[in-house]
Amino acid sequence: MAYYQTPPDITRLPAWQALSEHRQAMRAFSLREAFAEQPQRFTDFSLTACGLFLDYSKNLITEDTVALLMRLAREAGLEDAIQAQLDGETVNASERRPALHTALRRPIGEQVLVNGEDVMPDVHRVLGQMTDLVGRIHNNLWRGYSEKSITDVVNIGIGGSFLGPELVSEALLPFAQRGVRCHYLANIDGSEFREVTARLNAETTLFIVSSKSFNTLETLKNAQAARTWYLASGGSEQKLYRHFIAVTSNRQAAIDFGISEKNIFPMWDWVGGRYSLWSAIGLPTALAIGMANFKELLTGAYCMDQHLRETPFEQNMPVLLAMLSLWYSNFWGAQSHAFLPYDHNLRNFVKHLQQLDMESNGKSVRQDGSPVTCSTGPVIWGGVGCNGQHAYHQLLHQGTLLIPADFIVPVVSYNPLADHHHWLYANCLSQSQALMLGKTRAEAEAELRAQGLSEEEVQRLAPHKVIPGNRPSNTLVVERIDPRRLGALVALYEHKVFVQSALWGINAFDQWGVELGKDLGRNVYQSLVGSQDANGEDASTRGLIEYFRSRHRG
Ligand code: F6P
Repeated sequence: MAYYQTPPDITRLPAWQALSEHRQAMRAFSLREAFAEQPQRFTDFSLTACGLFLDYSKNLITEDTVALLMRLAREAGLEDAIQAQLDGETVNASERRPALHTALRRPIGEQVLVNGEDVMPDVHRVLGQMTDLVGRIHNNLWRGYSEKSITDVVNIGIGGSFLGPELVSEALLPFAQRGVRCHYLANIDGSEFREVTARLNAETTLFIVSSKSFNTLETLKNAQAARTWYLASGGSEQKLYRHFIAVTSNRQAAIDFGISEKNIFPMWDWVGGRYSLWSAIGLPTALAIGMANFKELLTGAYCMDQHLRETPFEQNMPVLLAMLSLWYSNFWGAQSHAFLPYDHNLRNFVKHLQQLDMESNGKSVRQDGSPVTCSTGPVIWGGVGCNGQHAYHQLLHQGTLLIPADFIVPVVSYNPLADHHHWLYANCLSQSQALMLGKTRAEAEAELRAQGLSEEEVQRLAPHKVIPGNRPSNTLVVERIDPRRLGALVALYEHKVFVQSALWGINAFDQWGVELGKDLGRNVYQSLVGSQDANGEDASTRGLIEYFRSRHRG
């Protein structure tokens, strides 16, 4: 099957019908009881892949559920879809492109054809170009306009040209090479520009303008501001090439901006922005952690690619995560999914996952343009534990919504401090345990009686103390967050997102929705600066434009 010929509508498949019936039969399913009755549940519902250990036993599932979900995946043609993506078929149908981020992590010697041409030599040539740049900067051979070494690198980019590299360079901070600090400039907000540049010295700062399209408003505005700042700080046009490089697939636009041709790192249209951290878009990461570590990152991701390709669905980690999440979205009415990394260094993981998942699977038509007949991507949210415990976990425990959660925790901390990491790990486990077990009315009453409260007080307080429990979660344990395991972890979620898109028959690799806001923004801007009247706008937008203009006039 050529995958881009839209797969069947899953809601019409026999397995969907069987799952709907199974869902009814699962109405009274209790995780507490399941654990009591099934001593092997943890062993049965856990697995290891590429240095990641997944415990999915705290899900609202039985063996039958898993079997039916995998039947659905097979009936939907998932095997073909995975092969199609990895082999470079046109899985991005609306833009008529393959989505070959997996090629970026393949080792030398493998072949990947795009339009009949092997792209691997080019992939490894660019890795060589990156190695050269990183080496020159780390060895003080690349110098700024006053001959001083580069100490700070500022990545100017947004969306996929920001979130992935930021996640990885922060997560791998323990692997940072001394001498080069990384900063990220994304928003068009002048406050961010000021905050970032206030810490910098133009003589020792290198800007990387990261933009696949080289046509993104925020990035171009920030790049222009950076150039102005560099010139105002003593830099010259002649030495600009020492301070500005670009990563883009729009070479000409970068040249027109003034970037020296030899400072342009290529990207390819067959890599989507949110999947691009493995390409030269990862340069800030490579500069932060060194090329050897960057290649380890690629190796970890490649391991997950092979796992996806070769492992039967029942033991296939991305397929399992995808099907479990689909189970809750499509059969239990879950509308969001929480990610709760218990690791300070993974604090930016949720931001990356939000783009990865929501920009990919926030779609309501299928590849062939027909409307979807079931819900697609959930809202992705979350943040680092334990901070979330003291903020939004209350809703997870006692709110009216069913919100599946993924807990992610390393066994080893790079910064052991007394018994802190044991407490951190304990908190992670106890949160998923509390979500699962909850507290029954009888337990709540017994607890209150044990405190010596009157029976009247016990009855008054008990309803507030009952916690429903039976709330599903996965726990991913990583021995330590090192480049290889992080590569596997990020690739795991890339594949999870793809698997879901394949099941729903949607295109995970386009993002037409974000274009509308950009188009309208241009008109609003023209009205704000007075070069266009706002009469064509709706009354609300017109009123808000007028409010802004009147304050600026005043
Ligand atoms: O507008 C959304 C988006 O196109 C993302 O998909 C992308 O990652 C981001 O903008 C940045 O795009 P570019 O790398 O072309 O500047």
